[in-house]
Amino acid sequence: SNVPVITIDGPGGVGKGTLSRLLAARLGWHLLDSGLIYRAAGLAAARAGLLQAQPLDEVPLIALARDLPLHFAEQDAATHAFLHGEDVTEELRSAEAGQRASQLAVIADLRRALLQRQRDFRQPPGLVADGRDMGTVVFPDAPLKVFITASVEERSKRRLKQLLEQGASATLAQVEREIAERDRRDRERSVAPLVPAPDARVLDNSGQTIEQTFRVLEGWTRDAL
Ligand code: C5P
Repeated sequence: SNVPVITIDGPGGVGKGTLSRLLAARLGWHLLDSGLIYRAAGLAAARAGLLQAQPLDEVPLIALARDLPLHFAEQDAATHAFLHGEDVTEELRSAEAGQRASQLAVIADLRRALLQRQRDFRQPPGLVADGRDMGTVVFPDAPLKVFITASVEERSKRRLKQLLEQGASATLAQVEREIAERDRRDRERSVAPLVPAPDARVLDNSGQTIEQTFRVLEGWTRDAL
């Protein structure tokens, strides 16, 4: 495809979502929050009672992911997700939804079932894609690949702040445990593990504000386009 893509990968809590949204708005490009797709698949699976068996029965989960009646719409400067036409955005934000997503995310054929759905977001004039494997698997030909990291401590503080602002209740210890657990699962999985693409620009934004990181991103964008 000739349509340019900027991929922004990294673990949770580095500000990828905010940065991707800012960059897409600045460029006037489309935005893909791929984590929402995994979260929606997790919610649909939980509702269908498919997450009770251990180990998980992969066949129905893959079928469910392939046929997921999911669509997105921009509302009030946020991406809203609709499952069977129901707005499930709030439910998808929870820590539980993140954990369910990362459980499904280890299933290779389930990831494959979601590939085309993600690539369909690549529409003119361009796409900013946020996730874990945007640069390594989904858009390997992206002209700019960014990988953002930060220490677990820093990411936990940011996530806690976000949760409290959203009216949820949590402690720093809880959030740290959850982030470390999800990191481990995302890094150690054999399929599409969380690693920078060989040609990614890597940025550790511990101690940086979103504005500082955004300026770095803008500079890289100017270089690449
Ligand atoms: O980014 P977010 O926290 O919404 O992602 C939830 C989970 O979905 C991640 O922890 C990861 O396991 C999975 N995911 C993935 N590949 C992506 C996006 C998300 O495996 N591109």
